Amino acid sequence: MSSRRMRLFAFDFQGPAHLSAGLWRHPQDQGARYKDLTYWTDYARLIEEARFDGIFFADNAGYHDIFEGSPDAALADVAQIPANDPFLVVSAMASVTEHIGFGLTGSTAYEHPYALARRFATLDHLTGGRVGWNLVTSYAESAARNLGTGRQAPHDERYDMAAEHLEVCLKLWEGSWQDDAVVRDLERGVYVDPSRVHAIDHHGRYFDVPGLAMFEPSPQRTPVIFQAGGSAKGLRLAAASAEGVFVNALSEGALKRQVDTLRSLAAEAGRDPRSVKVLQLLNVVCAPTDELAREKNDSYRRLVSYTGAMARYSGWSGLDMSQFDPDVPLRHVRTNAGQTMVDLFSRMDPDKEWTPRDIAEYVGIGGTGPTIVGSPTTVADELTRWMDETGVDGFNLAHAVKYQDVADFIELVVPELQRRGTMWSEYEGSTLREKLYGPGVTRLRDDHPGCGYRHHHPHHHRADLAPTP
Ligand SMILES: Cc1cc2nc3c(=O)[nH]c(=O)nc-3n(C[C@H](O)[C@H](O)[C@H](O)COP(=O)(O)O)c2cc1C
Repeated sequence: MSSRRMRLFAFDFQGPAHLSAGLWRHPQDQGARYKDLTYWTDYARLIEEARFDGIFFADNAGYHDIFEGSPDAALADVAQIPANDPFLVVSAMASVTEHIGFGLTGSTAYEHPYALARRFATLDHLTGGRVGWNLVTSYAESAARNLGTGRQAPHDERYDMAAEHLEVCLKLWEGSWQDDAVVRDLERGVYVDPSRVHAIDHHGRYFDVPGLAMFEPSPQRTPVIFQAGGSAKGLRLAAASAEGVFVNALSEGALKRQVDTLRSLAAEAGRDPRSVKVLQLLNVVCAPTDELAREKNDSYRRLVSYTGAMARYSGWSGLDMSQFDPDVPLRHVRTNAGQTMVDLFSRMDPDKEWTPRDIAEYVGIGGTGPTIVGSPTTVADELTRWMDETGVDGFNLAHAVKYQDVADFIELVVPELQRRGTMWSEYEGSTLREKLYGPGVTRLRDDHPGCGYRHHHPHHHRADLAPTP
């Protein structure tokens, strides 16, 4: 098992700070450079030299304003606000690299599938097939207020909408243009053969898209589909249609259960369970020795901002944490909404009573993922153990100090992982899908529902589109 190659993505955000709270005050933090194109092109080169699989941009269609019913705490600690549009930096990062993939978060609640599909196709062309879509249903009421209908649709309905959104996109990517549609026949004066471009004729509950895709098929056609939802509906959509799933298990036991659940749900949905690659959110604090790593971690912990952590956690959970005493264990708080999120923590460590302050200290570095602290050997041992014991395929690497933590990981831990063969020293294949599935697999695998929308024969008509999977 330990010979499996670890998939590794840098988890990042188009703003001064992502998951970690208060760490922007660290003297080495480079978050304030997020508006410089050279920051992102340097970063792209750095992670490609280290042979990462790619970078993954989280994004939020709204901002955090649950804590104290206001965005003030989020603004003060740059808790995922400000946030630039992650799509726009990718061409530049791709132009200085050849291999790294780009995971981009796109909302099925606030982006129209017709426009979103074109944007992904464009980037797939410009990057040579290196983009992936983190399909999210969005959770912030602020997004609904500012760019939606005022109120969020109910949780489960957002997933129904997401399934149809994805269906429209898949029809556009896979079913509209045949591979041989572009003929560029100079003699006949025909660039695109009209008989090989098909209207998708989609008439659904949420979307009406009768016409053609406006773009040529790109190298991957469909960007690699990622998802991160953990509810029953979320898991089902992921199992049916995701190629990569991001999870934030708090312990190895919880991670193993999630991996097993996803794989068996994928099998139930008629897919090869190995088609679902699972990536765990993780934070690493490393130094040349265990002792130095512990000191570094202590210095990071001293910078964690309580209100910055709670601004985020309140936004993610939908629960205003300002109503609780920071030092009273949450187990004694009687609220249904609260109990669900408290359970996340009490399940990890049933003997410990979690206070809001404990939660802030935990999520203040790297969010709801665990943090591994140690020397290169310690960290490499831990990462390998997580892979062996849980069946996870790799990690989404968060950070406390922007840029510097990833640079330290690359300097210290990557050589150790490469020496062990857990990380590769040379890339194989160039597209993002090949990084998940191996060289040669650039298009959707046959077990993916998107394949049902393909035109297998020339001159098919739109009535031949497969029914909804
Ligand atoms: C590791 C991880 C990363 C996530 N990244 C994002 C993100 O960038 N943007 C977003 O809107 N939601 C993100 N989410 C939230 C999920 O997409 C989803 O909205 C949330 O988990 C609620 O859905 P659920 O009830 O199905 O779990 C992330 C979740 C996890 C676990």
